[in-house]
Amino acid sequence: MGYQAHFRVWRGAADGGELRDYTVEVNEGEVVLDIIHRLQATQCPDMAVRWNCKAGKCGSCSAEINGRPRLMCMTRMSTFDRDETITVTPMRTFPVIKDLVCDVSYNYVKAREVPAFRPPEDLEPGDYRMRQVDVQRSQEFRKCIECFLCQNTCHVIRDHDENKQAFSGPRFLMRVAELEMHPLDTAENRPEESRGDHGLGLCNITKCCTDVCPENISITDNALIPLKERVADRRYDPILRLFRR
Ligand code: SF4
Ligand code: F3S
Ligand code: FES
Repeated sequence: MGYQAHFRVWRGAADGGELRDYTVEVNEGEVVLDIIHRLQATQCPDMAVRWNCKAGKCGSCSAEINGRPRLMCMTRMSTFDRDETITVTPMRTFPVIKDLVCDVSYNYVKAREVPAFRPPEDLEPGDYRMRQVDVQRSQEFRKCIECFLCQNTCHVIRDHDENKQAFSGPRFLMRVAELEMHPLDTAENRPEESRGDHGLGLCNITKCCTDVCPENISITDNALIPLKERVADRRYDPILRLFRR
């Protein structure tokens, strides 16, 4: 049975904006993205929103719904009270382009800064042999849909724009961890690079990134903490230091 919902949506651009109120129809089974589309179709044809798959797989429709970073296409209207006002704002950590669309290019810059997978030079195609446990570890990290909700949430850059230069954020520290723990990767300096080039030391394991990940990846426990442990081993374990010499 349909009803009328109260929406408050941020409208504006880089030079400023405001929250505007709308009353809009909601039908059985709909998600927040359906309602934003209905607003576009019926009341505000110029409203900017980024989306692609409507299936939680492209990572395009990230926004903040009632202040919580979420995918609009995976947020069911049935999770809200019918008389509740639902506020939709763009991700706060990235500069707004228009309405709900942000400039997320920071993330692509950081992605390019992670050196690529480096297998042994004499490894022929088909020679790859990995234990199942190593395959599964990589597979967890590779569920990432690059929605950047973890990047948006991490307080290291959310509240401190000045840290963006030094900090790659959980998504790309996870990529470094994935490569560092890959049994066929031969790059030797990944832990040290994670500390120096990617700002791992700024992460104080608050786990907010893990809390908002729509793919339920254990970013902190399975990637960031093991990476920190490897940095500590390399720097402070006297036996490992001896072997490295
Ligand atoms: Fe999104 Fe999770 Fe990937 Fe972060 S790790 S970009 S929250 S899917
Ligand atoms: Fe930020 Fe996640 Fe660390 S939220 S502080 S990267 S645990
Ligand atoms: Fe693709 Fe939401 S539209 S994840």
